[in-house]
Amino acid sequence: MAGGFALATTLLTPRPGRAAPPTAAHAQRIKTLLARMTLDEKIGQMHQPAGGRQKALNSKIDAAALDLVRQGGVGSYLHVAGAQFLRDLQKVAVEESRLKIPLLFAIDVIHGFRTLYPVPLAMAATFDPEAYRACARMAAVETSVSGLHWTFAPMVDVARDPRWGRVVEGAGEDPYLGSAMAVAQTEGFQTKDLAGRDTVLACVKHFGAYGAVAGGRDYDSADLSERTLNEVVMPAFHAGKTAGAGSFMTAFNDIGGVPTTANAALVRGQLRDKWGFDGIVVSDWNAIAELIAHGVAETPAQAAALALKAGVDMDMAGGVYAAHLKSAVAEDPSLLPLIDQAVGHILLTKARLGLFDDPYRFGDVAREKTVMVSAPHRAIARDAARKAVVLLKNDGALLPLAKTAKVAVVGALADDARSAIGSWKARGEETDAVTLLAALKTRLSGVTYVPGAAPRSDDLSGVAAAVEAAKAADVTLLVVGEDFDHSAESRSRADLSLPGGQKALADAVLATGKPVVLVVMGGRPLAIPDLLAKAPASLMTWLLGVESGPALADILLGEASPAGRLPMGLPRDAGGLPETYAHYPTGRPANPDLAQDTARYHDLDIGPVYPFGHGLSYASFAYSDLTLDKATIGPNDTVSVTVAVTNTGKVAADEVVQLYMRDPLAAVARPVKELRGFRRLALKPGETRRVTFKLAARQCAFWEAGRWRIQKGKIELMVGASSDDIRARAAFAISVDGWSDTPAAALLTPVTVA
Ligand code: NOJ
Repeated sequence: MAGGFALATTLLTPRPGRAAPPTAAHAQRIKTLLARMTLDEKIGQMHQPAGGRQKALNSKIDAAALDLVRQGGVGSYLHVAGAQFLRDLQKVAVEESRLKIPLLFAIDVIHGFRTLYPVPLAMAATFDPEAYRACARMAAVETSVSGLHWTFAPMVDVARDPRWGRVVEGAGEDPYLGSAMAVAQTEGFQTKDLAGRDTVLACVKHFGAYGAVAGGRDYDSADLSERTLNEVVMPAFHAGKTAGAGSFMTAFNDIGGVPTTANAALVRGQLRDKWGFDGIVVSDWNAIAELIAHGVAETPAQAAALALKAGVDMDMAGGVYAAHLKSAVAEDPSLLPLIDQAVGHILLTKARLGLFDDPYRFGDVAREKTVMVSAPHRAIARDAARKAVVLLKNDGALLPLAKTAKVAVVGALADDARSAIGSWKARGEETDAVTLLAALKTRLSGVTYVPGAAPRSDDLSGVAAAVEAAKAADVTLLVVGEDFDHSAESRSRADLSLPGGQKALADAVLATGKPVVLVVMGGRPLAIPDLLAKAPASLMTWLLGVESGPALADILLGEASPAGRLPMGLPRDAGGLPETYAHYPTGRPANPDLAQDTARYHDLDIGPVYPFGHGLSYASFAYSDLTLDKATIGPNDTVSVTVAVTNTGKVAADEVVQLYMRDPLAAVARPVKELRGFRRLALKPGETRRVTFKLAARQCAFWEAGRWRIQKGKIELMVGASSDDIRARAAFAISVDGWSDTPAAALLTPVTVA
């Protein structure tokens, strides 16, 4: 009881960030409920069993599962779906259990529910948070009408090693871009009001440093400096929290020996106490039980106690809280108030979703039949897919293709609908997807198709036919890369060259000497430097979702100009990883002259083939008149940075204007370049627009001894079309030292266009 009262009081205290503090009504409801709940019922709220498998949703909801719900033994289910099914399941909770507490239904909606849109890495390549917001909103509609309340997205893990298969699920290598995309998704899923229409609760994951696992090996340890943790990993989490994300998930991995699921300093200390997060912290799948395998707990009861002390409210799939938390409490009654806190967070979230007022608010059997893959939803997916395509190279303006061209399409991925929809397909169906081949056949008369070779087979018997087709065609689209199952969870790869027989196929087709457009598909950057060098034109096209083919055809045929940008550099070789454009300068910076002793490999050229931010257009753009409204600002001030951008090409096109900063002299070495603003803007031929970035001194802060320090001195600015295509430079000064309370890269730069 006392615990309940203390909780209600803490819940009412305003916290930093944007999430509104709980209303008095919510706090009162929670207090009353906590006072009535037995320990078993409290632990029940913290239990999130799987209601099915990813590929067989709902399959585990049997008579025993329903009995457990009746006893108040379940707080949430994951891997469930369906408006009628979930209505029936909810009915058991709110009509047949003692306290009638509604259940929370969760599912992984990572890049769409039924209407699958481009995979998250591709969405990051749009450099268009508004496109991402629109996709997340559309996914939320489909998810919520299906009776679900909660998605395990956005994944905001910054990743600089594409050997890690989960790079497909994030926004790439940059913390600023990652923060912008985290905000867009969170707000798209939740809107400003969780109790509004068609919302779903977002889950920022995987809290800790999951993207920094050693060698890109999924689930392995991360060992990184406090500075990197705070400056690179934390910003997108902070941004997601500030955008109001209602839940967080702890990561599987440890940081320097401390598994995140037991990391009290990080979860309770930083996320809860410092950042003021009062939503649900859920473990990753079975991660509480895995504390034993990590070697920090001997028994499941100890694992449960550790996770609870760390601040983990809900146990996903492992059942450790359900089976062992009670005995942990018997041994250590000081855990009881922590249980009340955890249950308070869960009940508060249910209240914020409006479930106590109407437990059936989500789920709409009639709309469920009409909104899925509807024409408006397809249009949103197609717009995003078009925006995600990155034109890497276009020698001799080989692209766009003439509509009269005789085109050979070579490569099995060109007609792989399953891969088009990506790995997290929720309720997606491959029959909804239009492949590149299917789309081209409806748009061009002279298309020949030869699969040639596939990503999962070493069979080269189709190569000869592919070569013949290339010889007979005006131009060949060589479609190669990874399929949907080469990237994603537990899909780390040591070799990032083309899998299967595709390299031999590509070499043979390129050897014809005929014009070849390399179309690279897949969920991660691949190391294919020689193919990128040999092919006169190349595109990175990711896995683009149900509208994959039509969107790609729009780009290939010039109905839209490409403007996607790489959210991660394309490496030369897996042996050169990890790498990032935002590296430190070092005392001996990489030098092309091998006679010098510098920070590079002797058997690999310096840097990626194409870096972060790279992407070409069918138009060209001139940058001019870079001006600053002030030469010097104080630590709490902003400077407006304006640049004029002109479309000097012949077609309407988007340009992605990028602002980078560097602190050239500071108490600690600073990265050679850091993204601090961007804007994708549409320009007609000859049109000029002026883009203004309002940069705050706080965005130049660095992490020093546990604080964000704004150091006085010069800040250099670079504006351009890519991290390696800087078109204009300027500088300003910060007049005196100051301090900030926010990760610098989590602060988004307001941009205006005139
Ligand atoms: C494990 C994954 O790491 C996580 O991202 C996902 O949300 C859960 N499984 C639930 O499917």
